Order: sequence, then C-alpha cells, then structure tokens
Amino acid sequence: MSIIKTVENDIKKIIKDSGYEIESFVLQPSNRKDLGDYQINDCMSLAKIYHESPISIAEKIKKELEKDLRFKDINIAGPGFINLSFSDDFLIQALNQMHDDLKSNIDQQESKTIVLDYGGANVSKALHVGHLRSANLGEALKRLARLLGHKVISDAHLGDFGRPLGLVILEIKKRYPNLAYFDESYQGNYEEIELPITNKDLEEIYPYASTKAKTDEAYLEEARIITTKFQQHERGYYDILKKIVEISRKEIKKVYDFLNIEYDLWEGESDASNYVNELFQILKDQELLVESEGAKIVEVKEENENSPMPPLLLVTSSGAISYQTTDLATILERKHKINPDEIWYCADLRQQLHFEQVFRATRKAKLVDDSVKLEYIGFGTMNGSDGKPFKTRDGGVMSLKSLLELVKTETKKRINYDIVQAQKVEETANIITVATIKYADFLSFRGTDYIFSPEKFSDVEGKTGPYILYSTIRMKSLLLKGQSEIQEKSSRINNNIDRDIIITLLNLPNVLTKSYEIKSLNDIADYLYTLTSKYNKFYAENKILQEENEELKQSWLVLTKTVYNLNLLLLDILGLKVPEKM
Ligand code: ARG
Repeated sequence: MSIIKTVENDIKKIIKDSGYEIESFVLQPSNRKDLGDYQINDCMSLAKIYHESPISIAEKIKKELEKDLRFKDINIAGPGFINLSFSDDFLIQALNQMHDDLKSNIDQQESKTIVLDYGGANVSKALHVGHLRSANLGEALKRLARLLGHKVISDAHLGDFGRPLGLVILEIKKRYPNLAYFDESYQGNYEEIELPITNKDLEEIYPYASTKAKTDEAYLEEARIITTKFQQHERGYYDILKKIVEISRKEIKKVYDFLNIEYDLWEGESDASNYVNELFQILKDQELLVESEGAKIVEVKEENENSPMPPLLLVTSSGAISYQTTDLATILERKHKINPDEIWYCADLRQQLHFEQVFRATRKAKLVDDSVKLEYIGFGTMNGSDGKPFKTRDGGVMSLKSLLELVKTETKKRINYDIVQAQKVEETANIITVATIKYADFLSFRGTDYIFSPEKFSDVEGKTGPYILYSTIRMKSLLLKGQSEIQEKSSRINNNIDRDIIITLLNLPNVLTKSYEIKSLNDIADYLYTLTSKYNKFYAENKILQEENEELKQSWLVLTKTVYNLNLLLLDILGLKVPEKM
C-alpha cells in the first residue's frame, strides 16, 4: 500500500479510536503551508452527526495524533480544522523508500481485463485532428491502467466497413474494370492478385469518389450496391476490401508509431462482421429487431422517457449494415475472444448518442453479462486560435500529417543547435513535436474544448511538454555528473523547499487514482508541472554538486533522482519520450 494510504488508514483508525466513525478519509495537502503540511477537515461534518462542537472533536483527535511519532506541529485552527505536519524522520524514510522503489508507492487495484478501443482511424481516409485526441487519450489511459495493475488489450478498431469503402472500391472498379476482383468467373486465389494501388492513390481516390457521389446519384447507388456486396462477404468484393485495409493499415501504423501509440490488436469493423449473423439471431430470438419502412431497427427508448432517444438503425432499406451494427457485433466478438470485465471507448463527444444507443441495445439484448462495464470516454475538440476546430489556412479540415508538420516547424526553431548533433536534429524535433501536442492535449479535462497554439505549446518556458522534457534532461545531466558520489540514502531535510517536494512526491497515488477514476490525464499533466517547477526552484536555489556538507549533498542527490524517476514514469504514462539533448 502507498505511504499516504497507510497514513490515511491509520488516521482513520485514530479518529475511530477517539470515538467517531468516518467512512473514508483523505489527507488534504494544506494550502497554508505555514500552518502545516496537511489539513484534516472532517471535524465539522462529524460535529453535525455527533451533536458535539467541532473544536471539542478536534481536541480529542489531536490528543490521539500526538501519540504518533510520524506527526508534528499538530494544531487546531478556525472552527475546527486540524493542521499537521510530518516529522522529518518520517519524510526522509519515505523519500528513501520512493527512491529505492517508486512502484512500491503506487496503490494497485483489483485487476480487471479491459478492452480499450481508441484511435478509430478510417481506412483509406486521411487521419484528421479528431483521431489524434482519441489516440492520445486511449494510449495514456492504457498505460495508466496497466500501471495500476489491470490487464489492458488495446484495439485500433479501424473504420473499414462503411460506405466510404464502397466508394473507394467503385472508383477502383471504374479505373481498373478488368481486375480479377470484379470478374465473376474468376476461380483463382485472390491472395495472389496484385492490387495496383498505393496508399497515396487511396488518399486521392476517396475524396474524388466522395465528391462525385454528391452530385451523381447513379454513382452513389453503385457504391451502395458494392457496400452491401462486401458487407455480405461476396467473393471478390470482400477480398479487395481486405487488400485495401492491408495497404491503408501500414500507413496508419506509421502515424501511430510516430505518436508513440501501440496497439495489441488491429481489428476493424470488417472483422466484427463475422459476428453479425449471431447478433441478428440474438436480436430476433428476443423479438427486438423490428421492421420499419424496409429497414431493421431496435428501439431503446425507455417508457416514460421524455428526452429523444432514436432507435438503432441496424440495416438500412438498401440492405447495408450500419456503424451501430458493427459496434454491437464487435461487442460479441470481444466477448468470445477476450471475455473482458470492461470495455472502454475513446471517441469524440459528438458520438455520445451513438454509444448510449449501442450500450442500451447491448443491455436489452444481454449481449454480455450485466456485470461487464461499458464505458464511453468522450472528449472535446482541439481548436485553433479563433476558437473553432483546427483548420488549414484555406479553411479546410486539418489532416493530422499537416498538423504534425506545422508543429515540427515550430519545435525546430527551439532546438539548441549548439548541443544537438546534426544527425539527431530530426529525431529530436519529432520527439518534441509529440510532446508539444500530447502535453497540450492532456492539460485540460478531456471533455472540454481547448485552444491549441503551436507557438505557445512548443515553448520551453511555461506549462508545456518541452518545459518538462527540458527540465528532465537537466536532472539527468546533474545525476550523471554526481553519479560517482551517490550513496543512495537521504538523511536530511534542509528547508521548506525540499520538504515541499517530498510532500508532493507523496501525493502521487492520489493523483493516479483520481485520473483513473475520471479517465482524464489533466491531473497527471498538472502534477508533473507542479513537481517539475518545484524541483527547478530548488535547483536554482542550491548548488547541489558544489555542496560541501556531504550529508546534505547526498540527500539532495537522492531527491533529484527520485523526482527524475517519477518524471520518467509519468512522461511514459502520457506517452512522451525524452530526447538526449534539446
Ligand atoms: N472510426 C470512427 C470515427 O472515425 C471511430 C471509432 C470509435 N470506436 C468505436 N468502437 N465506434 O468516427
């Protein structure tokens, strides 16, 4: 158990021994450091329950706390706040423990098997800025959940089974009508058939076909027919679809690799299509699948529900299955292949209704046990300086690649070319680019929109990714210089600054737990900044390596090493790498 949790449990017991029951207890770091490191605020609420004055309750608890050598300077303030500080001995011991093994100070949770669905890139369409947030968030939540002891299986869940693919295949058919895929008499193996198409072609073909379909009804109708063909696994059409997915996936993977995002599974909607028959059987058996104007729907509106809740449209009148159908089928697929305790989805807040419908239908049809938790993790948009979704100069949707280029140009202006070797410049700029974007992305609560400014967030000063990276590199270089001298034990606290850093370090478990609960990284991003700036202040005020008092120097090196290790751990959760120099 973490150090802070242990103390909290003990204080809870002390409160109980003083005669008061309390459900949960959290030590609040004090914002009046002159009064103590922490505050206990519970006497006021206990007073109401026990009909006793808060001061009198505080007095009794204080008396018990005074017997515990871990605490000092216990005092009562205002209407009944108890302030207290940790003794130096306790803090030194805590620091040494964290220095020896950072992970021993992280509270492990009861391990669950979680499928985490994020990214959701669409095959043959360029990735855009919206896909970025999903990927960043999902990847970080995966890392956080694993750190806390869960088994997480990440899945890219590619969009590869809808009308866009119908359009792409139609256009390929127009351009290459003689391909074996479109030849009904072809009996051979499609594996051996070359598709004369590159990803570059796909990026051109989809916008072309999609624009054409807007004005050409016959063309659109043909695309609809092709869509139902591959959806029904018709020979040739399903095979060309799989080839296209293969080509596109390689490109998508390159972008995710760049962003330091790794998937265990690269499944797509098309893989879930193998479970569509089973899905329809289950729905039919329970009489949930209803015919409506030639389409097949599932009602999910509750009786007495006033707000609008449209039914799920599972099969359109032209016979195509929908995004909702593939999501339901994917739930069956995951149940059969993984049998998870929880499934999490990271998708744009505009998809909230979609997931509400899918979850309701899942419950209604009992596709999975009621105990299986389905969680939708929605997020807001990344906006440009005008407060509107990030756009290109001419007002178009910004592709992810262009955004990355834009930020990279900015980060290249900040690199110190005196210390970064010429052959390392590209790699360094790439790492800082990812840090710039991701850190900005995590700073606010995931549900809120935020304004992304490439200039501001690539700055080495301020609450930015590059600031954290730069500071972390500096800690590393100090440790390298002092390496030969570290004896691996702290024995002194010098003043309130190092004291404050240790208290901040101790708070880690609470930050992690909260981030996990709200499925947002903003507290971690904020904590990383707080810890780093506190350390930087300490660094600026002390000449660590020149310190003559050997005990003090050792204690400071241990402190530095612990902050450094923690920075590395948290940067890794956020999916950021640290360059050698910058
Ligand atoms: N491909 C979808 C999109 O671009 C996102 C997929 C999200 N995941 C899911 N299981 N529906 O909007």
